[in-house]
Amino acid sequence: MNEVMIGMRIETLPRIKLANLPTPLEGMRNLSKQLGGPRIFIKRDDETGLGFGGNKTRKLECLMADAKNQKADTIITSAGFHSNWCTQTACAAKRLGMDIILVKQGPREGYDPEEYDGNHLLHFLLGSEIKVVPSRSKADELMNELAEDLRLRGRKPYIIPFAGSTPLGVAGYINAVLEILTQCYQRGIKIDYIIHATGSGGTQAGLILGAKAFNTGIKVLGISVSKSENRVEAIARLAVTSAKFFEISLPLGKEDVNVFDEYVGEGYGVISKEVVETINLVAKAEGIFLDPVYTGKAMTGLIDLIGKNYFKKEDNVLFLHTGGTAALFPYKNPIKAFIKKGESSWVKPPWSPM
Ligand SMILES: Cc1ncc(COP(=O)(O)O)c(C=O)c1O
Repeated sequence: MNEVMIGMRIETLPRIKLANLPTPLEGMRNLSKQLGGPRIFIKRDDETGLGFGGNKTRKLECLMADAKNQKADTIITSAGFHSNWCTQTACAAKRLGMDIILVKQGPREGYDPEEYDGNHLLHFLLGSEIKVVPSRSKADELMNELAEDLRLRGRKPYIIPFAGSTPLGVAGYINAVLEILTQCYQRGIKIDYIIHATGSGGTQAGLILGAKAFNTGIKVLGISVSKSENRVEAIARLAVTSAKFFEISLPLGKEDVNVFDEYVGEGYGVISKEVVETINLVAKAEGIFLDPVYTGKAMTGLIDLIGKNYFKKEDNVLFLHTGGTAALFPYKNPIKAFIKKGESSWVKPPWSPM
């Protein structure tokens, strides 16, 4: 086990600069006009600057500082086969001169596809040691075994749990709220909603905590990217644990967690014609790329909610671009088929463990 830090105040947290901050906050004038709804802004966390950018850079600033303080020489982490988290963590490890072991979930043990593409290609180029297992429980088991083996050989491994959704990771998005508030104050904007893709929930827990702690009145809306029975409870638990960790005393509970599950479709990483249409629409309207697994689904949710008059016309809605665009490329065939031939079935990727 890594040593556990408790009771750190957020301003005293060890932090390593990995992200180019502040990330831009831009208006989406063309899209807002086309949709005829509220004013939409976009926070470009796809431009954090580590690898291809993304929300994980903010989480990694405190996590990697902790790893460094513990004199770690090898980072071990786990996620899906084409994980953005793995890419960003591997980039951070390399920047800090550490080794990286990625325990990824794939269709079978030792899966090694013919074609290297998207994030898997990046994991490979970063010189990561890659292990593939068929389930999350097997990944946890293997991470512990690998760490034990390294320790016996005199090395200092540091395990970062799935997607960095621990209080140290959550800190990244508490700080992001402060950054957003500063940018909005400078430009005279009052944000009513932040909407974004939610997975392991670390990003949302941080945003909720930040929005409450700084008394912003901003409502945080998460769009689920995978099926889960207990996501709201899990995010609330993480927010409460993180608040305790940072000695922030706030009333927090399930009622603070707003999650929309209806845009998941057939499951994690499975894309649909609607998501491709959204990606195409945003690219054509704003010159901004979304990805099929996270931000494409989140924006599909936002567009649908606008269509259902969820927001008032005078609301200011901030879409958090959480990155992930390297995942566009492994989906090139269904994207082409959906747009050129109008095909409309769901497409499940071959590397999916589900
Ligand atoms: C591009 C992208 N957006 C959103 C998320 C969801 O973030 P979280 O796991 O903190 O909910 C992820 C997580 O992997 C991601 O890669």
